[in-house]
Amino acid sequence: MKRFFRAENGNRVYWDELAVVHAESADYEELIKGGHVMDRIQTGEVGEVQNRSLLHLQCHIGTDTLSWARLGAEVTGVDFSPVSLQVAETIARKAGLNAKFIESSIYDLPNKLKESFDIVYTSIGVLCWLSDLKAWAGIIRRYLKPGGFFYMMESHPFLCVFDDESDGLTVRYPYFHREAPYEWAAGYEDYSNSDYKVKSPTWEWQWSMGDILNALIENGLEINFLHEHAVIPWKALPCMIECGDGFWKLPEGIDNLPLMFSLRAY
Ligand SMILES: C[S@@+](CC[C@H](N)C(=O)[O-])C[C@H]1O[C@@H](n2cnc3c(N)ncnc32)[C@H](O)[C@@H]1O
Repeated sequence: MKRFFRAENGNRVYWDELAVVHAESADYEELIKGGHVMDRIQTGEVGEVQNRSLLHLQCHIGTDTLSWARLGAEVTGVDFSPVSLQVAETIARKAGLNAKFIESSIYDLPNKLKESFDIVYTSIGVLCWLSDLKAWAGIIRRYLKPGGFFYMMESHPFLCVFDDESDGLTVRYPYFHREAPYEWAAGYEDYSNSDYKVKSPTWEWQWSMGDILNALIENGLEINFLHEHAVIPWKALPCMIECGDGFWKLPEGIDNLPLMFSLRAY
């Protein structure tokens, strides 16, 4: 497996920086009030989680992890950013929810976590940080109990080709994977707080839909469904408009394009 340690370490610094920002700007009040912040697509597609063990890979500040806990799951969240996990633990305490959080790169998890789970889960903004999807899928397989399932919801790789600085749909970035990461300079706006200019650079990878599905298939997972959605839970391009339930879509006339996908595999 090929690890890009400079990129991984740099990305960890970036996520530690953003965890502090997101502790202020992320919307988790509902968790503290006794509710949850999970959207209708995921609750509908994942289904009943009561008393099921759930492993959340790349859990960030734990708002989704804790939403599954609120819906009855026994949750374990994993992230390599210690500051993210400190925020997650604070939110868990304030919300009165039980959750276990483990600081680890997903690739190193077998050194720290031995059990297996009914559900392995990951969502939105996760794959671009990973240099090796085959190793990622192997980790998913390793942690699934027999009869358990993997579920993910993620931005569609097709969306990532468009220029996020121009107003319409202009192709700017490659669709297919390249081994070397794309380096983003510091200074752009944070996605959850446009007043905040990010200080750390990042290193990201693009993965095609074929890369994602084949990584899972080659690790013995059977795809149960793949859904493509014309909505996404943040304003990913300047021309997007809010369409309710926390989602955004493209304007009329160019709105029949995939922005996000979800899948379940056994
Ligand atoms: C966009 S956030 C995920 C947000 C998520 N949808 C949620 O529940 O809030 C991406 C997360 O991936 C984590 N991450 C990136 N690379 C990682 C790796 N190799 N191992 C573990 N966590 C990683 C980052 O620290 C960050 O918290």
